[in-house]
Amino acid sequence: MEWGMANRLARTIKSDGHCFYLAVDHGYFQGPTHCLENPGRTAEPLLKYVDAVFMPRGSVRFSLTPNMETPLILRVSGGNSMIGDDLSNEEVSVSTREIIRLNAAAVGISVYVGSKYEHQTIMALSKLVDECSDYGIPVMAVTAVGREEEKKSARYLALASRVCAEQGAAVVKTYYCEDFEKVVEGCPVPVVIAGGPRTENDLEVIEFVYDGMQKGAIGVNLGRNIWQNECPEGMARALQMVIHEKATPKEAFEVFEEMKRNKK
Ligand code: R5P
Repeated sequence: MEWGMANRLARTIKSDGHCFYLAVDHGYFQGPTHCLENPGRTAEPLLKYVDAVFMPRGSVRFSLTPNMETPLILRVSGGNSMIGDDLSNEEVSVSTREIIRLNAAAVGISVYVGSKYEHQTIMALSKLVDECSDYGIPVMAVTAVGREEEKKSARYLALASRVCAEQGAAVVKTYYCEDFEKVVEGCPVPVVIAGGPRTENDLEVIEFVYDGMQKGAIGVNLGRNIWQNECPEGMARALQMVIHEKATPKEAFEVFEEMKRNKK
């Protein structure tokens, strides 16, 4: 691997081979999501726990300090919204010059396998990989399902993840599911676990991250289950323990509970 690419990857995947990405990109299609009215203010207290922050360029510019040490994974696809006709109608929305100007350590793009815009989004990934490879910038592909929650099966996610890997993604972000090991086994590049809507209880988040990592994921790219939690710092610290410190869900949950108590 070329030195620049290896160096950028090493900034967001730590020496233990694991990574903790904070997803704060929701505004690009959801508008001012609950708790992300000011994304920088939400992310700032959590940055010390994570290895990178995943954001679109607008949020970066209006809400993040350029003095931060946490690497940026720039969301570079868009063109859709929650109230538009079809969530899968995304394209690359950021130029390579802008990616470099914002000093991104990596970029992220959604790919909608099996959707009306499958071809467009797969080709967008492919072209982005070609462009970014010239500058040593890793591409994270997000296997997006839009509103089709029923797609979150191992069979679908394994297919979508493999398609993204074959187009040159350096990392694939996909959902945790039953038989998650089949998704990881079929994907020749590292897999990170995406989040999804809030879980019913706090332990569940810690448990699915733990289980996903036992089954081969290298880490997570999680948003709402952290920053919509009543104690975001506690959840971030608990997940950091699972991802980087070999903590069991029970050990991590105890720390979460303690931080939640101390916050009150
Ligand atoms: C999905 O593509 C979004 O862009 C988010 O990055 C992703 O869903 C992770 O955030 P959450 O954990 O809130 O689902």
